[in-house]
Amino acid sequence: MIRSVVRGIGSALPRRIMKNTDFEGVVETSDEWIVQRTGIRQRHIAADDETTASLGEAAARAALDNAGLTPADLDLIVLATSTPNNTFPATAVDIQQRLGMRHGFAFDMQAVCSGFVYAVTAADLYLRGGQAKRVLVIGSETFSRILDWNDRSTCVLFGDGAGAIVMEAGEGAGTIADRGVLAASLRSDGTHKEKLYVDGGPSTTGTVGHLRMEGREVFKHAVGMITDVIEATYAQAGITSADLDWFVPHQANKRIIDASARKLGIAEEKVVVTVDRHGNTSAASVPLALAVAVADGRIKKGDLVLLEAMGGGFTWGAVLLRW
Ligand code: UT7
Repeated sequence: MIRSVVRGIGSALPRRIMKNTDFEGVVETSDEWIVQRTGIRQRHIAADDETTASLGEAAARAALDNAGLTPADLDLIVLATSTPNNTFPATAVDIQQRLGMRHGFAFDMQAVCSGFVYAVTAADLYLRGGQAKRVLVIGSETFSRILDWNDRSTCVLFGDGAGAIVMEAGEGAGTIADRGVLAASLRSDGTHKEKLYVDGGPSTTGTVGHLRMEGREVFKHAVGMITDVIEATYAQAGITSADLDWFVPHQANKRIIDASARKLGIAEEKVVVTVDRHGNTSAASVPLALAVAVADGRIKKGDLVLLEAMGGGFTWGAVLLRW
């Protein structure tokens, strides 16, 4: 059977690092509060010349280099983002143009923080359905542009960045020993839409708007939703937490990551954590964390890796793959 195998990975971060102490004098907060409640110590913030498209392009080029491929080898680009350069055209098409690619097709996928997990799942279906042989999947965000910098309950939480992988159709035996995507589960529930949203849009206010979040409410639902969708993914593949080599969760809050891992019985040393240095980069958080763990040699070919995310909508989901 066809399996969607990861061939390469890359990432890109804005030049500027903003530390927790840099918020002092901006809003009433402290390094101590931010670290204790979230685990975040710093985040990268895009300059005017750094956009979702430019960061996505840089991550894409790094992933292609890592795979030993060029844009000519791609059939499809899927970009997960909630902070596109323009309302339209899709920023994926902008990145396609930046890469000098005039064949194939490209589109954006909007599932907020779950965007990358959704995009990997979609790419897997295009590959297994024979519509594409190689897909570039990118998560790129510039959340700094939609933050209310006077709202201390949200502006300290988010950062900018991009991560990308190249996925390729390969032959598998149909067992969990195969490399590639082995199982995936996606969920959404719009009854929670007012707990985490942006208060503007083309069809309502005609403005871009700012991020609004009832943090405590999101937190309350997060662990249960994450663990449910992971258990559904385990059931599809017939595995348990003991079989995992690495858990690469969405990086919103260290307390949510720890509580989810604890509830699932995933050992602490198998959990990849980058929220301390990146903050919450929404759809970019999972590929950025993956890129860190691949670059430092933790994630190796053949390892069983679980990706998970949860965000606005609510949307949530998990992907199990063998690297
Ligand atoms: O990626 C999408 C998913 N998003 C998330 O997963 C975010 C989920 N939520 C969270 O991570 C947490 O709820 C937060 C980090 C947002 C907040 O942590 P919390 O422990 O739930 O704190 P809280 O909202 O209950 O606020 C506690 C106190 C409040 O003061 P009072 O009402 O107790 O007097 C807040 O006003 O902390 C105050 N507070 C702050 N204090 C200093 C809120 N933000 C700040 C701040 N600095 N930046």
